[in-house]
Amino acid sequence: MCGIVGYLGHREALPLLMEGLKRLEYRGYDSAGVAIRHGAGFEVCREVGKVASLESKLGQDPSRYRGTEGIAHTRWATHGVPAERNAHPHADDKSGIQLVHNGIIENYQSLKKALESKGHVFRSETDTEVLSMLVGELYEGDLEAAVQAALRGVTGAYAIAVMCAKEPGVMVVARKGSPLMVGLGNDEFVVASDPSAIVAHTTQAFSLDDFTVCRLSREGYRTSSLNNVPVTPKVMELEMKLEEIELGAFPHFMLKEIFEQPDALRNTLSGRIDLKRGDVVLGGLQSSGPDLVKARRIVLTGQGTAWHAALVTEYMIEDFARIPCEVQYAAEFRYRNPIVEEGTVFVAISQSGETADTLAALEEAKERGALTLGMVNVVGSTISRVTDAGVYLRVGPEIGVASTKAFIGQVAVGALMAIYAGRRRHLSIDRTRSLLEELESIPDKIRQVTSQSGSIRDLVARYVDRENWLFLGRGYNYPVALEGALKVKEISYIHAEGMPAAEMKHGPIALIHEGMPCVFVAPKGSQHDKVIGNMQEVRARGGRVIAIATEGDEEIIPHADEIIRVPEVSEALSPLVTTVALQLMAYHAAVLRGHDVDKPRNLAKSVTVE
Ligand code: M6R
Repeated sequence: MCGIVGYLGHREALPLLMEGLKRLEYRGYDSAGVAIRHGAGFEVCREVGKVASLESKLGQDPSRYRGTEGIAHTRWATHGVPAERNAHPHADDKSGIQLVHNGIIENYQSLKKALESKGHVFRSETDTEVLSMLVGELYEGDLEAAVQAALRGVTGAYAIAVMCAKEPGVMVVARKGSPLMVGLGNDEFVVASDPSAIVAHTTQAFSLDDFTVCRLSREGYRTSSLNNVPVTPKVMELEMKLEEIELGAFPHFMLKEIFEQPDALRNTLSGRIDLKRGDVVLGGLQSSGPDLVKARRIVLTGQGTAWHAALVTEYMIEDFARIPCEVQYAAEFRYRNPIVEEGTVFVAISQSGETADTLAALEEAKERGALTLGMVNVVGSTISRVTDAGVYLRVGPEIGVASTKAFIGQVAVGALMAIYAGRRRHLSIDRTRSLLEELESIPDKIRQVTSQSGSIRDLVARYVDRENWLFLGRGYNYPVALEGALKVKEISYIHAEGMPAAEMKHGPIALIHEGMPCVFVAPKGSQHDKVIGNMQEVRARGGRVIAIATEGDEEIIPHADEIIRVPEVSEALSPLVTTVALQLMAYHAAVLRGHDVDKPRNLAKSVTVE
């Protein structure tokens, strides 16, 4: 959601900034812009639509945009429609400020009023322009001081990069609530919302902490609090490899990431399974593990796909560890009056580690005394830093907006946590070993599903013109059905609903009509007969049954119109395999309908605002 890139160094800034913007495209946006320091001021170019449109506008007069300092931005509209006037960078009208911003300034209206009373005239509807004007108003010859002063009066979330015409060779960046990294190159700095725009230039970087300002100049950098107290950032080595964020031979990141899942899962499990002792080794839970084991209640939270992974984890924790467990939408939890008793363990699940609602729920739970744990993919992300302890997913960067391998990582970490706690409560060593052995066999089973991509595409082609799909499942298959429906709707824009199969009779059955695709997640398991009953109900009303079924399951044949076979897996771990079939269905549906799979309309990869 919004992307920032900044460059200060000795190279031409524009190509580097444009390359950075392209790497950040996956975050979601609807307009883009750039400001390059040129002569005594800036050359600014902004455009609605894709980065490619901005690029062609810049290409009309390339010599104007020569310079070695610049800031660039992809905007995901919050305040004001996607329009050139609302795109960033935003200038002030007094001191020569250019500013890009990710986040929301909550008190922008009162700030705007005060600035208007001083004669400032606004040209956009954005909260960002207010911040730019405020910095300009407070500027007295020191950009860093002006930014610090402005941010002291701001409430909300921000990551910003600011330049001033009067201070060549200086860029000031700051953060609260929205991610921002500073890459340290050879006599150059690359600033970006995430490491994907940095790693091609340097692997030395640091993340800014909340309420921290960093002044970059040709002499070096200096970080400080909003009150100008020096802060020492933690410089780290970025682990991201360039090939991880490049398409290679795949047409889309989503497909690449679906196919990466066997390796990603191996990485998640690596070093965490001790078959000899029949145990799980979770370094991240070394000190908090005992509290998890004796938890009186576990609350799992997340949004979207992470929420679905939480549902699967809930079932596993109750199944293996017999600890009362519940799943809450983070956005609901944060605004309720949630009960957090002694012994409550709160687990935040997030790929990005930056989802605003999940972070706020986590802070609420922490405030109320819960032990907070994280299941996060992005190392060093805000959630991973705010939680008391946690387990990384280790699935590598996920670029496709539709989450795929992160779900597999989340469910796998959920399984590891559940088995870890279960083993210390009542799971026998034999059952533990057999679960762990099975987990280790899953990557090959996922590969058996991905190898059917072509036939899944052919199947989907027969239904891709239908505008309403149902996804149904019972028990562990219910969250998988929800995840399948989410995948289909977010990238193919087909209306899809997921629900427990038993719920169908309580209303949704009224929707079923001739030819409506109803996808049943129906691997062999304890409720198989009942699911077959639901299939019959669908067919009796003209619906078409597409079954995700276990290899060798003959019983299902007469009840389904189409079958996608998955290898046999125990019920609890089956979501790791069945979900992959649904990911491929959604992917092919979107491609067949001609959509931009990796950049679905209206969506952002990580939702860093409410
Ligand atoms: O980064 P997070 O896991 O916290 O993101 C949560 C959701 O926004 C995310 O899973 C979203 O639902 C995906 N686009 C689904 O594919």
